[in-house]
Amino acid sequence: MNFQLIEKLESFHDLEPEIEDFRSAVLRGLSAKNKYLPCKFFYDLRGSHLFDQICELDEYYVTRTEVGLLKENLAEITECLGPHCHLIEFGSGSSSKVRILLDEMEKPVGYTGIDISRDHLISSCAELSNLYPNLGVRAVCGDYSEALNIPALENSPGRPVAFFPGSSLGNFDETDAVNFLARVATFLSKSGGGLLIGIDLKKDEEILNAAYDDSKGITAAFNLNLLVRANEEIGAGFDLSAFDHRAFYNSRLGRIEMHLVSTKPQSVEIDDVTFSFIPGETIHTENSYKYSLKEFSSMCAKAGLQSTKVWRDSKDLFSVHYIENSKPGA
Ligand code: TRP
Repeated sequence: MNFQLIEKLESFHDLEPEIEDFRSAVLRGLSAKNKYLPCKFFYDLRGSHLFDQICELDEYYVTRTEVGLLKENLAEITECLGPHCHLIEFGSGSSSKVRILLDEMEKPVGYTGIDISRDHLISSCAELSNLYPNLGVRAVCGDYSEALNIPALENSPGRPVAFFPGSSLGNFDETDAVNFLARVATFLSKSGGGLLIGIDLKKDEEILNAAYDDSKGITAAFNLNLLVRANEEIGAGFDLSAFDHRAFYNSRLGRIEMHLVSTKPQSVEIDDVTFSFIPGETIHTENSYKYSLKEFSSMCAKAGLQSTKVWRDSKDLFSVHYIENSKPGA
């Protein structure tokens, strides 16, 4: 851990989402009838860098479109955020989108980045703190789906606004997404804050398929990095040349599915347990749900939230929403 960088932060909380988690998650996921691995483990340092490269790809319209929406509607968005705001970013990664907001916001008082990727989090937050010396920058290393009840959020200064860009809500299954939004709703009702969230929209399948299976193979490397990690960190013996990346839009379920496909009969040993694969068998690694505006607002309604303001691009690829609790004081 880089203590010099941590010193630049107002505070650093480590919820310690450790390797033991990874080991048990791999053993659990590979023991299931339909093998899977939880997507949060994509984001070690190498995975976080690969993800930053995904965000720059021509095919991955998500980042470009969302950034465009933030920039084009900046005055309206920052008016919703208001003065003396404390931004709390879930899955803060490189903390780059937030700069667009911070440059325009009226007297922002603080920023809390929450991310599972410890070193990446610390260096991104330290850099942000260099760029905005008057901003109290806090970093919380943890799984953001579990991180709403943390001390760093309880006594933060200013009016909290949760910032959840990148359509990461789409990486939850629908029930988990509603539960997450409901927890945000409870947090907002206590604090009188808001939520600024990016939601990817349903669209032409070809655009979707290309976005998750790019021609340079970066998404493939990102997906396979899970197996690289398993080999390095828990001594698994995956043959990396015998698994392929596969991503496709499942229109019945309204989601992109990401898998690692075994290209031959093989077995892999982890902790004396043998996992066998038949050719074509997959490890399901990620879903990315796409919503219509109507579907998203009905999820918000279930969670007790009301989308107050929606911005979308001219091609209807992506949407950004500002949301407050529909039951203030509830
Ligand atoms: N939140 C991003 C999304 O659903 C995550 C993502 C983009 C992703 N590309 C990926 C996850 C490739 C796994 C593999 O769009």
